[in-house]
Amino acid sequence: MNVEKVDVRPENWDCIIAPTSLLAIITTVDADGNVNAASYGSTVRVCHDPVQLSFTCTQGSDTHANILATGEFTINLVPFDRELLEKVLIIGLPWKRGINELEKVGLTTVPSKTIAPPRIKECYAHFEMKVDWTHSWIHRMTVTGMTQAVSANANVIDENQMIIWDQAKPAHFCGGRYMDQFVPANDPMKVEWDYRPLELAGVSQSDFRGFDEGVEDPVLTPVDDWRDMMRSSPRTF
Ligand SMILES: Cc1cc2nc3c(=O)[nH]c(=O)nc-3n(C[C@H](O)[C@H](O)[C@H](O)COP(=O)(O)O)c2cc1C
Repeated sequence: MNVEKVDVRPENWDCIIAPTSLLAIITTVDADGNVNAASYGSTVRVCHDPVQLSFTCTQGSDTHANILATGEFTINLVPFDRELLEKVLIIGLPWKRGINELEKVGLTTVPSKTIAPPRIKECYAHFEMKVDWTHSWIHRMTVTGMTQAVSANANVIDENQMIIWDQAKPAHFCGGRYMDQFVPANDPMKVEWDYRPLELAGVSQSDFRGFDEGVEDPVLTPVDDWRDMMRSSPRTF
């Protein structure tokens, strides 16, 4: 399979983790540089600017040990593709420390640009991450990383570096209680902003927090009309 990986410009990193939580294979390396891979359904974007992503792992897992040893991880986004999802299940088995799961399932690595954990060629996009903070409780550890570089297959992003849904075919894991079930996440529905009921109810600009009130919200644009605060395209009515 010949795949061209292209660099995503930093201002577009946020476009690639879409939907905002996704199925991933996370690669790490140990202190000697041995590669480890594990499947994660819990990968989520937690900050837009800077772009920060989190996931949660089990204490004592190889990912846990490698993250604490090296502070680096690469998040590889998995397409909704049966053959690859079968490999995701196998990668998620409790393989002994030192075993490279990618070799077991026949996936290919591509060196990352900024950190040691490699990218997985068969995945459609890659976030190279350095640990910003971890939080451990009971038997879990949440890891939040600062993005260092993002790349994607050339055919899964458009000229604005936005995801082409049917090419990327993002996927979600249904969760441990469903064990081996996944859902596709490539069929977004654009929902219309219908402000008419609010207008009829007398809602106006003064009902919303002002941009001068000290709350930094990168999703909101300063606009004259409250109805334009959050839309992705110009108003049609
Ligand atoms: C589809 C799938 C999703 C998973 N998601 C998570 C997750 O979000 N968090 C987690 O701790 N383990 C998750 N697991 C389990 C880990 O992949 C598993 O514990 C793995 O053995 C850890 O590998 P490691 O010891 O190489 O780090 C998932 C497994 C599968 C198959």
